[in-house]
Amino acid sequence: MTINYSERIPNNVGLATDRALQRALEHWQPRFQDWWREMGPNDFAAADVYLRTATGVDAQGWATYGTVKMPEYRWGIFLAEPVAERTIGFGDYMGQPVWQQVPGELRSQFRRIVVTQGDTEPASVEQQHLLGHSCPSLYDLRNLFQVNVEEGRHLWAMVYLLHAYFGRDGREEAEELLARHSGDVDKPRILATFNEPISDWLSFFMFTYFTDRVGKFQLKSLAESGLDPLSRTCRFMLTEEAHHMFVGETGVGRIVKRTLEVMKEVGTDDPQAVRAHGAIDLPTVQRYMHFWFTSSLDLYGSEVSSNAASSFANGIKGRPDESQYQDHVCSEAGYELDTPRGNDCISLRNAMNEVLREAYAKDCEIGVKRWNMQIQRAGFDFRLALPNPRFHRSIGVWAGVPSNPEGHGISQEEYEKRLPEWMPAAADRAFVRSLMQRVVEPGKMAGWIAPPDRGINNLAADYEYVRLA
Ligand SMILES: [Fe+2]
Ligand SMILES: [Fe+2]
Repeated sequence: MTINYSERIPNNVGLATDRALQRALEHWQPRFQDWWREMGPNDFAAADVYLRTATGVDAQGWATYGTVKMPEYRWGIFLAEPVAERTIGFGDYMGQPVWQQVPGELRSQFRRIVVTQGDTEPASVEQQHLLGHSCPSLYDLRNLFQVNVEEGRHLWAMVYLLHAYFGRDGREEAEELLARHSGDVDKPRILATFNEPISDWLSFFMFTYFTDRVGKFQLKSLAESGLDPLSRTCRFMLTEEAHHMFVGETGVGRIVKRTLEVMKEVGTDDPQAVRAHGAIDLPTVQRYMHFWFTSSLDLYGSEVSSNAASSFANGIKGRPDESQYQDHVCSEAGYELDTPRGNDCISLRNAMNEVLREAYAKDCEIGVKRWNMQIQRAGFDFRLALPNPRFHRSIGVWAGVPSNPEGHGISQEEYEKRLPEWMPAAADRAFVRSLMQRVVEPGKMAGWIAPPDRGINNLAADYEYVRLA
């Protein structure tokens, strides 16, 4: 049986003429489909969903919108257009022509990075597996499915690299990407955050705001890679990632908006009163933010990392927007690192994880500022805030060091006593879950979230984005 690739798998990598790659993907595709049926939003397999599908890499018209059943989504393989005479922009190979094949001596390092990135894509689909059942509106249900199918496409993107550039090892890794599962006791996903369940929509919006943004920064630094196909793949993935973070930012913003309306109605900011009127009190929003932000910070790895140094030195992974820096070699420069023992001067190459994490944290502030503007305009004193990066860490120099969200050291005893003030407690999660009742009439919205300002692709907000079977 032959598959018509230009028909089933939209691509710009010449799949139709590459027999070896065809064979590899022919073998993998049915396994992907099995995985999607088993681990994806399979209870909605028969629903008609208004989705965008990547069908090209032209900045003006890279996507097509239309109604599809998710199992028939056309997961494609796209690389951003090549940059003529591109050279390596950082590290020891700075200025040399970029690689079109993986240099043998860097093979295992490159493979590990592709596998780690690839592992997060199906993981998030698994985490959100049952979320559709409690959607606050058809608009939100559609956005969830859009994120899900695109994470599926990002898996295809990484599997393409594994199949096309890493031979037999790559094919084996591609199989493993479907064998590990989020939260599985025996075969969990590689990174901790991707094993956390996402069983309510507040968590989903926090995840798409904070954790998809980690994806943005990883993809931006891999877009700098000396391995050109990796760079081009990641550059294209970034175009889709922007929508995922939009879903997160506007989702949290709409929750805050609705909460403020309720606070005005009842004339108090008392959390119990707000909850009694079916909205999510702002301190609970703050606790969820603490959880997802700190968990996402851990994804960058240790502040001091010889792995990160070697990735940078070898032209594997640069810094996001590498061209913004003066020094692209960084072999002499130092970095002042905040540690529990005071400031430590370490080599800049060893501090690359921290450089990324800092850029990420700064980017996270933008949405928080917008949410706070809403609160301020509504005339309330409450302010949301990102915690200090010392707070509630599990990885790196601050792991297990008790501190408050402002970053001040406190005793272990006080830390444990006050943690329910700072992190979502079982009762918070139970309350949030109790609000998650599905709303599926076109244009209707659950009571804990405000409607969106506008619909998708110039359609009305009350358009029937999903027709349930
Ligand atoms: Fe992704
Ligand atoms: Fe994403």
